[in-house]
Amino acid sequence: MTATVERIQQTAAVDLRGIGKTFGTGSGAVTALRDIDLQVRPGEFVCLLGASGCGKSTLLNVVAGLEQATTGRVDLRTTRPSFMFQEAALLPWLTAGRNVELPLQLNGMGRRERRERAEELLRLVRLDGLGQKRPHELSGGMRQRVSLARALAAATSGGEGDGLLLMDEPFAALDAITRDVLQGELLRVWEATGTTIIFVTHDVREALRLAQRVVLLSSRPGTIVGGWDVPQGDSAAGGPALYDEVTARLRQVITSHAA
Ligand SMILES: Nc1ncnc2c1ncn2[C@@H]1O[C@H](COP(=O)(O)OP(=O)(O)OP(=O)(O)O)[C@@H](O)[C@H]1O
Ligand SMILES: [Mg+2]
Repeated sequence: MTATVERIQQTAAVDLRGIGKTFGTGSGAVTALRDIDLQVRPGEFVCLLGASGCGKSTLLNVVAGLEQATTGRVDLRTTRPSFMFQEAALLPWLTAGRNVELPLQLNGMGRRERRERAEELLRLVRLDGLGQKRPHELSGGMRQRVSLARALAAATSGGEGDGLLLMDEPFAALDAITRDVLQGELLRVWEATGTTIIFVTHDVREALRLAQRVVLLSSRPGTIVGGWDVPQGDSAAGGPALYDEVTARLRQVITSHAA
């Protein structure tokens, strides 16, 4: 019994082995990723950190199945991943509630059940009572919350605890205060649902606030050059020393590429 539990815990939710990605062929070919090995545990929150253009979105797209890796193997032991982009990408003709319901509907959930679930998720992101609004009636921050609720609907529709949420700089376009509030909400929701999260950012502070583990990608071709476990239950997220260390390493990666 214990051995079974241990085996389950050791099973990665996301297992990437030797992932490489080259766009195009011949002299115009761009190698965006090289030799990426990454294992993410079920329920783990990992931030992928790296400079602009280093291949973060490409890696997330490969995990999501939106791009095909050129080399290597992707193994997902979760339900189908859900994606949250930098822009909210809501369907403008549907209300906020119906946008959240959509992945549940596509999963074959009955109307009454999915209404209740959507209301629950909108409550979770503190949008109770706004389910009837259409996207254009909401602020940018509110739209991102609807988008978060929809991603959670998709990520948790296969049952609690086995969802996978892929987030590509979802808060980058928001003002600092809204970003701070949504980061707090994401953490609360992550703790409540046990969803596995891979979150892309180029912001060290954001990575250290959110993640249990930060993984650093070098500039093109993106390859993993560093990893840090972030001490949990500590509001300073590893404190200034860890922040300085990760920032210095990121700076080194960027300057060595520019040189
Ligand atoms: N469809 C594509 N065709 C050709 N090249 C591409 C394609 N998608 C990405 N690239 C190239 O791959 C590299 C990595 O791009 P990617 O979008 O993954 O970077 P990123 O780390 O997400 O950057 P940012 O932080 O600016 O979003 C870039 O050089 C980009 O030009
Ligand atoms: Mg990107």
